[in-house]
Amino acid sequence: MAFYEQEVGVLISEDKLQARVRELAAEITRDYAGKDLTLICVLKGSAFFAIDLAKYIDLPVKLEFLGVSSYQGGTESTGEVRITTDVSKPMAGKHLLIIEDIIDTGLTMQFLLENLRARHPASLKVCTLLEKPSRARTKVDIDYKGFVIDDLFVVGYGLDFGEVYRNIPFIGVMKNK
Ligand code: PRP
Ligand code: MN
Ligand code: MG
Repeated sequence: MAFYEQEVGVLISEDKLQARVRELAAEITRDYAGKDLTLICVLKGSAFFAIDLAKYIDLPVKLEFLGVSSYQGGTESTGEVRITTDVSKPMAGKHLLIIEDIIDTGLTMQFLLENLRARHPASLKVCTLLEKPSRARTKVDIDYKGFVIDDLFVVGYGLDFGEVYRNIPFIGVMKNK
């Protein structure tokens, strides 16, 4: 029995997840053909998604990692977003695609867009695996979206609860939350 089975139920299975990631990668491959694309993997949550997506995109993408934190281990956004790790290169003039695991209140993405726009990229777009529109506190335009979900506390495939459960291969829901 897996370590999480008592606490976590399946919301989106590994098969459904991987199929959707491949579809998004195909769309991105078409849209960015001939362009020099940089994926901005937003740590830590989007690590699993961004890496799978990168593997399925049939273009010579570059990868950058940007660490931000707003939940600080809890189940509610603090609303205060902090950069914990910055990208390794200047972003000016580059085609940037921000990769997120989830847009919940939208405050993290709003911060990311403002922060990266100020670095004058050639283009700036948003890709998120999950969107939880019921909790939105700011409107964010999403260019690539995996799934829209209800107001559930989800874990797995990068998403954590108190820093654990990220390494579950599907999107799960906490049974007693
Ligand atoms: C989570 C998630 C998104 C953000 C979404 O990150 O990975 O980045 O919150 O929430 P919002 O739309 O309400 O801002 P978190 O701050 O928990 O850091 P982590 O990715 O390291 O888990
Ligand atoms: Mn995150
Ligand atoms: Mg988190």
